[in-house]
Amino acid sequence: MDSIDENRLNIIMPFFSGTGNTEKIANIMKQKLTELNVNIETYNITSYDTRLESIDVDKYDGVIFGFPIYSMRAPRVCRQWIEKLDGRGKKCFVFFTYGGFGKQPAHYYIKKLLNEHDFKLLGTAEFLGAHTFNYGGWQAVESRPNQSDYTVAEDFCDIIYNKLMSNNECEVNQFDKPMFSEEQLDGFEKYRFKAVSQLPSREGESCSMCGLCEELCPTKAMDSVNGVADKDKCILCLRCIANCPEQVLRINDLSKTWNVKLQMHNTTKEEIDSLESRIFV
Ligand SMILES: Cc1cc2nc3c(=O)[nH]c(=O)nc-3n(C[C@H](O)[C@H](O)[C@H](O)COP(=O)(O)O)c2cc1C
Ligand code: SF4
Ligand code: SF4
Repeated sequence: MDSIDENRLNIIMPFFSGTGNTEKIANIMKQKLTELNVNIETYNITSYDTRLESIDVDKYDGVIFGFPIYSMRAPRVCRQWIEKLDGRGKKCFVFFTYGGFGKQPAHYYIKKLLNEHDFKLLGTAEFLGAHTFNYGGWQAVESRPNQSDYTVAEDFCDIIYNKLMSNNECEVNQFDKPMFSEEQLDGFEKYRFKAVSQLPSREGESCSMCGLCEELCPTKAMDSVNGVADKDKCILCLRCIANCPEQVLRINDLSKTWNVKLQMHNTTKEEIDSLESRIFV
């Protein structure tokens, strides 16, 4: 981590990104905050080892967390990492990337969790990001995030900067209690494993045995020698598939479930693709 400059606003931005959408937003925000003369440190918690470490929030004026939405909440591994933090009343912000479905519980439950760990949540944002399951044949917001999302990310930085500079203590308070309890959401989390009947596994003969899939796996689920994921450890982030240089890793074909997904949410591809990124303060 970089050294701290006492004369500038110091912010740390821990983020998790399986397939790179959240990292793209984190990079845009880092660039914008740097232009605002903020000392901004990113802390990528995607790898297993980085999540073994905690952060000392006392060193910073604020924290910006960045997560993808998994089954309507921040990923379980990220929630478990937050549980190890002591917020000490620190002001924080959260941004999510998501594939166009069921984002409201994520905002509500992350506020609950952060408050339980003594953080003050001053604002959240949601950005569209190509759905991870597009790797299996879905077609949700395929070209996002795009420039329109990056512009909202820059606006979010202006808000963060102004709130921290003006010593604004006002927490974001506009999220209604979701229709799903946390126990119900735990159930949905298990359901996605039924939809994906084949965990990432190798197909064909072209594997170069580079070991990258095992090295990058956030939960140590992938065995690059056997070319299969451990079902008890895999969180279906598809990081291994996204990064395999030979493109020989696959999940089962999900294209048939795409229309079912749209019907379940009573929506259309056009409606999903036209969603816009949003800020909540
Ligand atoms: C296991 C899993 C569950 C997901 N659940 C949701 C969801 O409930 N709603 C949604 O809109 N997108 C969902 N997504 C899609 C991701 O939120 C989206 O693609 C995100 O931008 C991925 O970020 P990343 O590229 O930084 O990993 C899910 C993705 C995964 C892997
Ligand atoms: S990343 Fe791809 S090429 Fe490399 S070991 Fe894994 S499956 Fe083989
Ligand atoms: S094996 Fe599972 S947890 Fe590991 S990178 Fe692949 S999809 Fe993610």
